[in-house]
Amino acid sequence: MSLVFYVNGVIQTLDARRGPELLIDYLHDELDLSGTKFGCGIGVCRACTVSARIPPDTAPVPVISCSTTLDMIDGAQITTIEGLRLPDRLRPIQEAFLRHFAFQCGYCTPGFVMAAQIFLDGLTDTGTLPADLDAAIEAAVGSHICRCSGYVRYYTAIRETAENIVFRGD
Ligand code: FES
Ligand code: FES
Repeated sequence: MSLVFYVNGVIQTLDARRGPELLIDYLHDELDLSGTKFGCGIGVCRACTVSARIPPDTAPVPVISCSTTLDMIDGAQITTIEGLRLPDRLRPIQEAFLRHFAFQCGYCTPGFVMAAQIFLDGLTDTGTLPADLDAAIEAAVGSHICRCSGYVRYYTAIRETAENIVFRGD
């Protein structure tokens, strides 16, 4: 029996006995993808958030990799911060975070970026109205913890990127 899933488009085939291992350990130790950060380790801070399509043809959802085992993502498409950029440029949310200097130490930033991108991916599908944007952003990233930057610049960058989708259809 095997576990099969994809990380940033690359297939991973493992012995099913490895199912109890944590996703974040697999990303760090076997794929050398250290952009996903380990914070609390108990599912609270969300620094370890990655994007997952489970099954692969569904909309992406945030997954807390410190508390997700490999058997929980069997068949999934996982995207980490390393796999987020487009082939020739950064994503608009990454550019907005840089433009607004939204982070200080940056430890929580990958989790914020991943959650924000999942939110933006679903924005047109959910039919979010401009008046509801602030509440929708709060719902998407409000549980992420940042210990040093405050949250205002993160929210500004996400709102600006979301407005481009809602108002201009970028
Ligand atoms: S490290 Fe804090 S939720 Fe995963
Ligand atoms: S920028 Fe340092 S924890 Fe958020």
